Amino acid sequence: MKVLVVEDDLATRKGLEESIRDFGFEPRSVGTCKEALKVLEEFDPKLLIVDIHLPDGDGIEVLRAAREKDPDREGVVITGQGSIDNAIEALRAGAFDYLLKPLRPAQLEVVFHRLADRRRLETEVETLRAELQETGRLGDLVGRSEPMTRIFEIIRRVARSNAPILITGASGTGKEVAARTIHRLSRRGGKPFVAFNCGAISPTLIESELFGHERGSFTGADKRRVGYFEEAMDGTLFLDEITEMGAELQVKLLRVLEDRTLRRVGGSSEIKVDVRLISATNREPREAIQEKKLREDLYYRLNVFPIALPLLTERRDDIPLLGEHFRKLIEEQERAGVTGWDPGAIELLNSYDWPGNVRELRNIVHRAYVMTEGKVIRADVVKSLLPRSGQSGRRKRPVSGKSAKASSPRASAARRK
Ligand SMILES: Nc1ncnc2c1ncn2[C@@H]1O[C@H](COP(=O)(O)OP(=O)(O)OP(=O)(O)O)[C@@H](O)[C@H]1O
Ligand SMILES: [Mg+2]
Repeated sequence: MKVLVVEDDLATRKGLEESIRDFGFEPRSVGTCKEALKVLEEFDPKLLIVDIHLPDGDGIEVLRAAREKDPDREGVVITGQGSIDNAIEALRAGAFDYLLKPLRPAQLEVVFHRLADRRRLETEVETLRAELQETGRLGDLVGRSEPMTRIFEIIRRVARSNAPILITGASGTGKEVAARTIHRLSRRGGKPFVAFNCGAISPTLIESELFGHERGSFTGADKRRVGYFEEAMDGTLFLDEITEMGAELQVKLLRVLEDRTLRRVGGSSEIKVDVRLISATNREPREAIQEKKLREDLYYRLNVFPIALPLLTERRDDIPLLGEHFRKLIEEQERAGVTGWDPGAIELLNSYDWPGNVRELRNIVHRAYVMTEGKVIRADVVKSLLPRSGQSGRRKRPVSGKSAKASSPRASAARRK
């Protein structure tokens, strides 16, 4: 990246050039506005670091002019202590950040890292948006149906915020994939994503798994252990099956969300946590509250942006797309040369009930792939794999609200894995 420094103090200029080079960028420096404007065309910097007070004018004006020509240019302003008004004006002029004099290399490092993060995110979001339009796919989430398009829109919006998210949906509807996609699209995308299933571990151990413990805090705690919250630092923590967490622990979780600090089990100091929380449940939250499986106050805290994933039968338009998506993925792994579908096979997929939703579809496609001899997946192969109910096509369209309920949350709330 090309970086132009506009600064009249020669020592500062040289120091900056050196640090910029150390970061692997290409520096150029000038001492006046006039020179800066001249160099702009020919050097074409992507980043400008400008001093405010220059012999022949105001560095912010240089920045303004540079960004007018190319709005993708970023600016950082150098300002003396106590002239915070200038800094504010600089930010208004589109500066990305400001550096306080005297400059220290560490300051610059922070700015460069932030800049890199932002660039990464912008490119990522752009790539994904293009991909979505072309292939009906956002991150690992595939879908073109109306309900999925709406969910993609919500996901893009919430990814930018830091608010906690609650994802609901029956088993296999893609809650974890959605959580990962949100993480990837967020500013935290380059930081850890930690998934924790509250249903997979005994309730008495959840607290120390999540928050960590100090040595000797309970029998068997022979070492200090950092919890998942701390492992997810600066990133995202995905708490699956949140209703499996005991009520007492739900209170503690709520407190961590409010205070942004936690205490390890048996620990006395407060640890600051910067973690985005995404939780999920395959139960109806309202019912879970009534059954005292989910605390209402926690629910409200988590449910700032609810995301309710539809059953696969509520978005049948996506079945062929998903089927083909999985066939391709499997072909990439197995390389058996299975390159397509018999139309009758897709029709069978379309008319089946999919109680296990996308996960079940994926499994069926995988099995059909393995059983296929030849280039296309045939209808009779698919037919032999689908459980009875979907075979004859007699239960063709179970899309009413009622049947959606019958196959949703509670039936599958039993622990998996
Ligand atoms: N929209 C989607 N696009 C592509 N793949 C999907 C989609 N939804 C789900 N999948 C796939 O289906 C499988 C199940 O998804 P996931 O584990 O996210 O479901 P879940 O809602 O968390 O289920 P459970 O409640 O059982 O934990 C995964 O293999 C995932 O890759
Ligand atoms: Mg899951």
